[in-house]
Amino acid sequence: MSVDLTTSLGSLELSAPTATASGCAAAGRELAQFGDVSTLGAVVTKSIMLKARSGRPTPRMAETPRGMLNSIGLQGPGIESFLEKDLSWLTENNVTTIVSIAGNNVAEFGQLARILRDVPGIGGLEVNISCPNVESRGQVFACNPVSAADVIDTVRSEWTSSAPILAKLSPDVTDITEIAGSVINAGADGISMINTLLGMVIDVDKMKPVLGGRTGGLSGPAIRPVAVRAVYQVHAAFPEVPILGMGGIRTGHDALQFIAAGASAVSIGTVVFGDPSSPWRIANELGQELEQRGYSSLREVIGLAHKN
Ligand code: FUM
Repeated sequence: MSVDLTTSLGSLELSAPTATASGCAAAGRELAQFGDVSTLGAVVTKSIMLKARSGRPTPRMAETPRGMLNSIGLQGPGIESFLEKDLSWLTENNVTTIVSIAGNNVAEFGQLARILRDVPGIGGLEVNISCPNVESRGQVFACNPVSAADVIDTVRSEWTSSAPILAKLSPDVTDITEIAGSVINAGADGISMINTLLGMVIDVDKMKPVLGGRTGGLSGPAIRPVAVRAVYQVHAAFPEVPILGMGGIRTGHDALQFIAAGASAVSIGTVVFGDPSSPWRIANELGQELEQRGYSSLREVIGLAHKN
């Protein structure tokens, strides 16, 4: 293929345009049986917290038309185990790694940044301020411009590494460009978007929500137009700020929409559960889509839909 698919997210150079979306491929190792993980643009790890966490009650998944709801609740092993077992594997295998972090409060985000800043092998930090599966909506920092900025400001003050800080935003807001502006002013180098939308499915025989946590995050193709719209709006408002776009991407054709809207790279999420090799497949398909349209590089297409 003659199309140049290399791209970048701020200072982080990517050899391929597709990354795994946080929460959809654990810490990358599970994908190793399906392909060479080091050839992905990046692995974005499941959001890691300071302490091990068991997550929300079951059931945690519900199917929806063209999508799914998850209510995992940030289950994970905690930062110490992550460093020892997961990050070490990623580093040993030359995987470009973006570590996703989540905190119960602003101070915990800062502590995580302080722990991670001197650890070798981290290509970027994705600051997950938008997980919908938390006890209080006040913990969805990305729904409020001041709270969102507080987290990013704290992470920025601790983060001495040159690896970029990406703020992960929620679509569950009135004006996503306001939140984007707020985190950029606070020191984010780039934006990851979108996280899932808050949703609910009700079992009308039991007359109660299906999910143990009652609400969950909606992902999959059903949310793709929302994600493309959000990427388009933020790129229009902040054309110099790199965007890692995601939300319901299943094919190279879908991915191309995000690139044309202004994303510099894309994360592949829900489709990975049914097709674990999709991050590689979608990169190939994206190359073909670009070639068929006469483009020689991905970079020349970033944000092109704004010019027509
Ligand atoms: O429930 C979860 O662990 C989801 C996290 C997220 O969407 O950020």
